[in-house]
Amino acid sequence: MNREQLKKEIRRIAAEKNAVIMAHYYTDAEVQDIADFVGDSLALAQQAAKTDADIIVMCGVHFMGETCKILCPQKKVLVLDLNAGCSLADSCRADDLAAFKNEHPGYKVVSYVNTTAAVKALSDVVVTSSNARKVVDSYPKDEKLIFGPDKNLGAYINGVTGRSMLLWDGGCHVHGRFSLNAINDLKAQHPEAKVLVHPECPKPIQMVADEIGSTAGLLKYAIESDAQEFIVATECGILHKMQLACPDKKFYPAPPEPADGEACQCNECSYMRLNTLEKLHSALVTEQPEIFVDADVAREAIKPINKMLDLS
Ligand code: 13P
Ligand code: SF4
Repeated sequence: MNREQLKKEIRRIAAEKNAVIMAHYYTDAEVQDIADFVGDSLALAQQAAKTDADIIVMCGVHFMGETCKILCPQKKVLVLDLNAGCSLADSCRADDLAAFKNEHPGYKVVSYVNTTAAVKALSDVVVTSSNARKVVDSYPKDEKLIFGPDKNLGAYINGVTGRSMLLWDGGCHVHGRFSLNAINDLKAQHPEAKVLVHPECPKPIQMVADEIGSTAGLLKYAIESDAQEFIVATECGILHKMQLACPDKKFYPAPPEPADGEACQCNECSYMRLNTLEKLHSALVTEQPEIFVDADVAREAIKPINKMLDLS
């Protein structure tokens, strides 16, 4: 089957099985282009909550599939590769969080959506980078809060809300690697360019930002801005949608610190790259791999997710 036939087959089987294809902005361009819906973590969860499809195919990473399954327990939820995990979600294990909660009685737990279902089940509310500020602001100023697992997003939210939430020491291997020197070099080459930064980036990168936001927030800024050039410090998959939405503007991916023997000068999430058209086709044909969430865990995890959706 050539590429065009493969795409036609994917659309044909999806229609036949009443399957909805969802993709995160970080997936490859051809995966985004074939999806019914492309969005940030919040939009994907909102879309899952209201879909009337029988099958949800989540082109993204494992926690996104779990969130869909928790929201739609009666539906079949497929991902393209069970190895598509997330270094940030891996940085917070449920038993470690449970121990941390025991050490800090009286604290409520605010968890980023990039967490396992078991971590969500231990949380009071879930946030994404789109709504973290709003959700945290919904708590009284003197509420004792633990924020995890992303310490950079947590520090950013502490800064903009004037709080001192306890921060989990976790992070994303992609967002933690941007090179400040390389961004400054790019700025020198393109002095008019605006710097767009995801809040999972460390503070020194946030400090050179013209805009800090979720993937959807950065896309919106690029569309609405009068600027013609942008340096983008988040996973480079988002550049596809930015370029589609703004064909006359220029987007430069912020480079990572060079690692020995690495050819790639863009910032790629190796987990997101596991999503391919071939695997999408196979998932639709075989209805595998399917996501399952333990019923007890799901019963607890849906509460903080619904709380977030109500507040968003
Ligand atoms: P958002 O799409 O919510 O900005 O999240 C970024 C991310 O790292 C997803 O894994
Ligand atoms: Fe997880 Fe980072 Fe990949 Fe996002 S970019 S899915 S936070 S590893």
